[in-house]
Amino acid sequence: MNKRNILIGLAVILIIMQFFPIDKTNPPVDQAKDFLTMENAPVEVAQLFKTACYDCHSDETKYPWYTSVAPISWFIKGHIDEGHKHLRFSTWGDYDAKQKAHKIEEIIEVVDGKEMPMLTYWMIHWDAKISEEQRTQMTDWMRTKQ
Ligand code: HEC
Repeated sequence: MNKRNILIGLAVILIIMQFFPIDKTNPPVDQAKDFLTMENAPVEVAQLFKTACYDCHSDETKYPWYTSVAPISWFIKGHIDEGHKHLRFSTWGDYDAKQKAHKIEEIIEVVDGKEMPMLTYWMIHWDAKISEEQRTQMTDWMRTKQ
């Protein structure tokens, strides 16, 4: 196989991948069950959660153009599905009191520990790279909910 055939082969694989798009429909959102609504988040704090967390942890995911390009799209979809499993802000109202308390604890932990938002996310979304001060703003508010 020469170099040219390898390149053609790769191009064909990439093209075939495009026939397997991800599902980009968001389920309908009931704002009454939304975390920021239910917990009465101040506007600034709500904005931080929306830009840094809501793409993966809510049903208000925004899908920019590159989410249409496989295999990047599959990688992103994997994070969204996995993120939903761990924490879903849009259906916060469905968690019971014990679950809420546990999630609040985890949110403080990952924001304090700079584990979230995920590195690969803010490398692309510069607006989601939250400052030290903004992290404190988020966790200070979350602690009032404990
Ligand atoms: C790019 C998608 C993405 C973004 C953006 C994101 N997360 Fe996550 N989150 C995930 C994934 C995937 C997991 C599960 C795997 C893991 O823990 O790494 C997760 C797990 C979590 C967990 C559970 C941790 C645990 O120990 O089980 C919490 C809490 C969390 N995220 C909070 C947040 C908060 C708060 C933000 C915003 C500051 C945020 N996430 C932004 C994808 C994301």
